[in-house]
Amino acid sequence: ILLSGRGSNFEALADSIAAGRIPDARIALVISNREGAPGLERAAARKIPARVIPSKGLERDAYDRQVVAALQEARVDLVCLAGFMRLLSPYFVQQFHGRILNIHPSLLPSFPGLEAQRQALEYGVKFSGCTVHFVDENLDAGPIVAQAIVPIEPADTPDTLAARILAEEHRV
Ligand code: GRF
Repeated sequence: ILLSGRGSNFEALADSIAAGRIPDARIALVISNREGAPGLERAAARKIPARVIPSKGLERDAYDRQVVAALQEARVDLVCLAGFMRLLSPYFVQQFHGRILNIHPSLLPSFPGLEAQRQALEYGVKFSGCTVHFVDENLDAGPIVAQAIVPIEPADTPDTLAARILAEEHRV
C-alpha cells in the first residue's frame, strides 16, 4: 500500500482482509512518501510493516527506483495506491504493469487530479462518486475496475461531498 496521508482507504483494505472479504491477501508493506502521515500510525497500530521513503527533493525516477526496490524486496504482487499523491514514472508502471490499483474520488474520466470533489461541484454535475482503476503512466488514468455513484445534494460543500464519497471509497 502506498499512501501520503490519512490512510483511511488503507484501513478499509486492512479491515476487509481481516474480515475475509479479500481472500488470500496480506498487506506486506505500507510505504509513505511523507513523514508523519497518519496512515503510518494506523499501520503501526495494526502491526503492519510500514516505512517512510521521503520524496522531497528527489527526481521522480530516482524516487520511484527506491520505492520499486522496497516493493520488490517485500515481494509484493499488487500495489494499491491509497491516497498516494504522486504520479508514477513509466519505470514504476513497467515494473508492476497491470498490478497497480488506484482509487480516485470522482467518476473517471471526469475530474482527474487534485480536488476532484470541488471540481465536480464547480462543474455542476448532479452525480459524482469514486473509481478504482488500474494505473498507467497518466494521471488518474487506466482501465476501470469498479465505480460507485454518489448523488450531489444542493447544499453540498467539497467537504460534505468528500465525506459521502469516502464512505463509498471504503466499500468499493
Ligand atoms: C481519497 O479520497 C482517495 O480517493 C484519494 O485520496 C484520498 C485518500 O484518503 N486518492 P485516505 O488517505 O485513504 O483517507
